[in-house]
Amino acid sequence: MGMMRWLGCIAAAGVMMAASSASAITIGFSQVGSESDWRTAFSADMKAEAQKRGIELKFSDAQQKEENQLKAVRSFIAQKVDAIIIAPVVVTGWDQVLKEARDAKIPVFIADRAVDSDPSLFISRIAADFNLEGRLAGAWLAQASKGSCTIVELQGTVGSAPAIERKKGFEAVVSQFPNMKIVRSQSGNFTTSGGKEVMESFIKATDGLKNVCAVFAHNDNMMLGAIQAMKEAGLKPGKDQLIVSVDCVPDIFKAMVAGESNASVELKSDIGKYIFDVVQGYLGGKQDFPKWVLIPSDLHTPADAADVIKKRGGG
Ligand code: AHR
Repeated sequence: MGMMRWLGCIAAAGVMMAASSASAITIGFSQVGSESDWRTAFSADMKAEAQKRGIELKFSDAQQKEENQLKAVRSFIAQKVDAIIIAPVVVTGWDQVLKEARDAKIPVFIADRAVDSDPSLFISRIAADFNLEGRLAGAWLAQASKGSCTIVELQGTVGSAPAIERKKGFEAVVSQFPNMKIVRSQSGNFTTSGGKEVMESFIKATDGLKNVCAVFAHNDNMMLGAIQAMKEAGLKPGKDQLIVSVDCVPDIFKAMVAGESNASVELKSDIGKYIFDVVQGYLGGKQDFPKWVLIPSDLHTPADAADVIKKRGGG
């Protein structure tokens, strides 16, 4: 190869390298926290998916505090990231910071939980239908209890979209049955310890869940804590009371196999691919994204628990 051609090749390679590093994008991701197994799996999936795609992901864990999220988003704006993804703790309080991102011409994407801001302030939300999850749980319970059931409910974080919508969806179904009734409802903040604490208080207040036919929890971790509290009180969760929750984390399938949980609605945690497809598509010039990219939900019971564990590679 002649000297000139060789130099030409090097120059071309240099241009290609410059182009590929110039095209590497930086995305700021403000995550809710690590309150549940579902959330931890979602964070891990986002990091792995970003790495696979060569995206520089600036990850910030808000520890369930909106004020930490607002700080993180402002710091992403100051760093001039290419895009911002927010998984918001609660629905309210986002207008101002979303306007700041818009003024800085940084597109914002909402992941998982919702905000109540004007939809023109973000490009798209990529998430499941929490109301449908509540309705699926309610429909399963209506069928399992033949429409006659006294229920205690463990709510998620107050003011968060999944707590609001799962409650609404569940109640929409339960209200169709005159003999189904929620007698107690309290927040366990989506944590195992919160669920345990609230269930301990329910057990005390109802003389050991006397006449309570079912427990509905807005997530599996609270339910796992509640199951623990019920066992410590000498109850048999899954038998003395029907147990239905949301997320489908590995430990709830183990509880199903042990006969201690009866159903869980799946909230998929491996959603990084859908989120980054939307963000990269937008940054690449695609404009016509729906305001809500819907992630489907389904319901699992002990009938397929062992299969799911095997499929997911668990023991
Ligand atoms: O926003 C989704 C909910 O947040 C999950 O159901 C729960 O586990 C998490 O904390």
